[in-house]
Amino acid sequence: MSPDDSRSLLPVEALEQLKNVVGHKGFISNEADLAPYLLDWRGQFRGISPLALRPDTTQQIADIVCICNEYNIKIVPQGGNTGMNGAATPDDSGSSIIVSTARLNKIRHLDPLNYTIAVEAGCVLQNIQKEAAQIDRLFPLSLGAEGSCQIGGNLATNAGGVNVLRYGNMRDLVLGLETVLPNGEIWSGLKGLRKDNTGYDLKHLFIGSEGTLGIITAATLKLFPKPKHFDTCFAAVVGLQEIIELLDRARHRSGDGVSSFELITRPPLELAFQHGKNLADPLAEPSELYALIEFSSSAEVNEEIMEGFLESALTDGLVSDAVIAKSETQRQALWRLREFLPEAEKIEGASVKHDISVPVSSIPEFVETAILAVNQYLPGIRPIYFGHVGDGNLHFNFAKPKTMKDKSFFLHKDKINEIVLDIVASLGGSLSAEHGIGQLKRDSFLHYTPSIDLYLMRQLKNTLDPNKIMNPGKLL
Ligand code: FAD
Ligand code: MLT
Ligand code: ZN
Repeated sequence: MSPDDSRSLLPVEALEQLKNVVGHKGFISNEADLAPYLLDWRGQFRGISPLALRPDTTQQIADIVCICNEYNIKIVPQGGNTGMNGAATPDDSGSSIIVSTARLNKIRHLDPLNYTIAVEAGCVLQNIQKEAAQIDRLFPLSLGAEGSCQIGGNLATNAGGVNVLRYGNMRDLVLGLETVLPNGEIWSGLKGLRKDNTGYDLKHLFIGSEGTLGIITAATLKLFPKPKHFDTCFAAVVGLQEIIELLDRARHRSGDGVSSFELITRPPLELAFQHGKNLADPLAEPSELYALIEFSSSAEVNEEIMEGFLESALTDGLVSDAVIAKSETQRQALWRLREFLPEAEKIEGASVKHDISVPVSSIPEFVETAILAVNQYLPGIRPIYFGHVGDGNLHFNFAKPKTMKDKSFFLHKDKINEIVLDIVASLGGSLSAEHGIGQLKRDSFLHYTPSIDLYLMRQLKNTLDPNKIMNPGKLL
């Protein structure tokens, strides 16, 4: 028994058995090393747990889950811990252990002609992208946290990112899964088939389930031909209706070759310049609204397509200025600017975040109505929105009024959420487009979700996890 175990609420004998499963390299139980596992990326949720396990095989995870069932120990699965909603952070009861997939990180199988890659859950997203690129293939999931988030976390949150318009979200990129069920059984569904109509599609139960239905241990993912050519531009757009028209035009003019269409507003950009290093304004004059647009193709693309598209948009008054990246370095600089926005917002301090989606055609109405309503409620509040407008998904965030204290600002959080989410609901939208529910959005989720949907979800949860050991306090 270690001194740390004596302080835990959990049975010492169970903790010892769990440590034995993973061996001395596979667990963390001292306070200092545990700390990062107990705090979420935004620093808003801190939990309590005596133990983080770091298994390196599926069988070890199955053994861990069996022991937890026997002793009624709760399990919080954790990948890269980059999630936005506190879904990978234990609660403060001290009755959970963390199961980190960081060491379960092998590439199991590459099949170039089947355009698939089978990977373990702890593979870092960027490593999968690199692995695919080496065989002239693309794994298209791409997001700002790709250097640290893991594919298991991407699957469990059904992550989106900047290429959804062209390739779909995580759910669309999976052919098979392997999962340890809450009773400790291993479900092997690692198929690499694009067509398979044999009953319910079980993998979809686990995608987006935020660790509440089992621990994903491996996945077979879809690959695509690697793009040979990118055309990337940063354009100052004159208004919200114009940005939607620009998207429509970009899709037509590029032969539906738009892989990213991101909206950026001036306030988060200013925060990026203020808090980041080596980030330059791409255009001479500031504008309220920008689009970062990328066309890509696995064939050689005629650069004149993007030039022609922008010229027509300038002539027709949709765009007031624009720059096209002339090199890979310039392209990367534009993307660095976009990817730094969440970090800049975090550094700036207290904000109320939303990850909403509405039909693309309703974006202007949504933004205008919501900003007016929130401003009327709390004058001086600062809208700092940006996001994947091509998917109808905005990170529709508000920073506190400059002179307000964090504590006072957070007293308004629920009312701001209500104002924004009522408008989202009235437009047929979603309160979580890509980040999931976790702890942060649980109350809103329970409020806005129809009772029949909640009933079905609870039935599924009770069937798969009758002892309720998987990720308590998240989602449902
Ligand atoms: P974690 O945060 O560790 O876990 C997230 C959830 O998944 C938790 O519920 C956890 O219990 C569960 N989980 C983790 N691994 C498993 C497993 N193997 N089995 C079962 N459950 C598991 N998200 C987007 O969708 N699009 C973006 O564009 C985007 N950009 C981001 C940019 C930045 C800078 C940051 C910090 C985050 C961003 N995110 C984005 C959010 C985040 O990166 C994603 O939600 C990501 O998918 C989380 O992966 P993770 O490995 O960090 O998971
Ligand atoms: C992004 O698109 O940058 C993210 O999903 C992160 C965020 O919302 O802050
Ligand atoms: Zn996003």
